[in-house]
Amino acid sequence: MSANQSATTSDYDLDIPIPASASGLRQGLTSYGDAHFSLFLRKVFIKALGYSEDALSRPIIGIVNTYSSFNPCHANIPQLIEAVKRGVQLNGGLAIDFPTISLHESFASPTSMFLRNLMSMDTEEMIRAQPCDAVVLIGGCDKTTPAQLMGGISANKPIVHLVTGPMMPGSYKGARIGACTDCRNNWAKFRAGTIDVEDISAINDELAPTVTKTKVSSNRTLNNILKAGTCGVMGTASTMACILVALGMMPFKGATAPAVSSARQRIAEESGKLAVDAAATRRVPQALLSRESFLNAMTVLQAIGGSTNAVVHLMAIIGRHPTVAGTIDLSTFDDIGRRTPLLVDLKPSGKNYMTDFHNSGGMLALLHALKPLLYLDVMTVSGKSLGEEIDSAPYARVPRSSPTNCLHSLADPLYPASSLVVLRGNLAPGGAVMKASASKDRTLLQHSGRAVVFANSADLAARIDDPELDVDADSVLVLQNIGPVGNPGMPEAGLIPIPRKLSEKGVEDMLRLSDGRMSGTAGGTIVLHISPESSNPDSVLGVVQNGDMIECDVEKRLLHLRVSDEEIEQRIASRKLKLEATVTASATQTRGYRGLYMRTVNQAQQGADFDFLTAAGPT
Ligand code: FES
Repeated sequence: MSANQSATTSDYDLDIPIPASASGLRQGLTSYGDAHFSLFLRKVFIKALGYSEDALSRPIIGIVNTYSSFNPCHANIPQLIEAVKRGVQLNGGLAIDFPTISLHESFASPTSMFLRNLMSMDTEEMIRAQPCDAVVLIGGCDKTTPAQLMGGISANKPIVHLVTGPMMPGSYKGARIGACTDCRNNWAKFRAGTIDVEDISAINDELAPTVTKTKVSSNRTLNNILKAGTCGVMGTASTMACILVALGMMPFKGATAPAVSSARQRIAEESGKLAVDAAATRRVPQALLSRESFLNAMTVLQAIGGSTNAVVHLMAIIGRHPTVAGTIDLSTFDDIGRRTPLLVDLKPSGKNYMTDFHNSGGMLALLHALKPLLYLDVMTVSGKSLGEEIDSAPYARVPRSSPTNCLHSLADPLYPASSLVVLRGNLAPGGAVMKASASKDRTLLQHSGRAVVFANSADLAARIDDPELDVDADSVLVLQNIGPVGNPGMPEAGLIPIPRKLSEKGVEDMLRLSDGRMSGTAGGTIVLHISPESSNPDSVLGVVQNGDMIECDVEKRLLHLRVSDEEIEQRIASRKLKLEATVTASATQTRGYRGLYMRTVNQAQQGADFDFLTAAGPT
């Protein structure tokens, strides 16, 4: 009897029930009230794609395709899918790709963060709904990988992550440049008048310089030449890729191999193999990931000088895990930061690019350096512990003296500790986050100044360059109402521009505060994610006024409004009733996804997830 006949016979034997725990094509059958008919019908339709009974008897490995012509960071996904399929089919699986939402930073309005939770829901439900024994999640651009891990943990089928990889740096007038730290640096110079319109136009051509040729293979791909790869510095995309390695969800080279490299294709093939293995052993993320896995992720986050966005994303990811949620909070990030030095010299904290990190040995080299600080017994998606993976992977140390080495050692760090810090005080009782290592003027890490307050993004845009603005270099710029609820999507507007009249005088950094986020590629002395956000009726940030004195002391982890408690209470009381009525009415009267977002998003320190998506469920 052939394999074909065997599969057919067993599938159509009405005396043999199809168990709820069935795998492959037999799992998660569509409800018609007759499981055998459901399977019969499913096979009718999938055979329209030409599959044999032999193919359909294999473990099914789903491949999440987030290709979009609006997402140039994902331009190489068609080639990656082909390589993943090769890896799956060489190892006995059947690879089937399917689409989910794709998010790019510059093409999502109001922000990609507004849609992150929607992407996580899409990912979770499509993994759950379709007959996959394991899934390779292909992402890359900032919000895609956290959305995929959030959805993957909630769906709790075996998952393997694959990212599109970083782009290469470009060059202008002999200096290397790359998205997006140099986008912001050069834009600031243009605003200050130190470079002209020809310069900024030529720089625009070089900031995202690598391309890939995609091919027509489905209605999800186009015959086109597009930029390939994610931002080439330690922005949010690179940070989340490194974190996926630290969590054991991706091969070591997966975080750093350039998007256009042949290594990237081999990693994709390896990901296909890993997914087949994970399907066989049922290595599901809720069992694989432990509290210690996330502590390792935080250690790596601090050592790479990673994006502040990763704090929000990690809290949302942790919130999806039924046993880890509630065991970690913002203070855990700070505790780990105090014992973890910055080791990777990449922009925006340092001066290099992701390709340099890759050439320095990438994540494997970093994990070797961090070994004393890591929990090595945690499991990875390969089935080995992290320690076993580190010890068994071929590793050629790059000499520290090598001009291409951007990796420091624990004995000789780039920044002694606490690249990312958590501040508290009467201005941020729920916490606030700062990337101290990206401060351009370290004297501002202990600074007091009078507040110059902007009520929202529109107010900022209208007044920041007003020559009459009452501001000097010692002022503290305060931007209100860009938090998760106050400005749905919590925009990356926390990098408040230096008022032009000051930047023209050479001021490059000021202490800046908000309840919003900042791009991971940006730098400066910026306090973010202040909680509770200013739209909250109890928020102290919401009642800061022009001229108030604000004190920030990073050493003491303090963010303090020097206004008496009585005065603060009075200010809060006077705005509270009006604000409560406005926020509640606005959330309940808004339709569609935006209304859902406004009604259910939680605060930044909880990850800005929807409360009903967390492991604990609606509150
Ligand atoms: Fe996609 Fe930066 S815009 S990673």
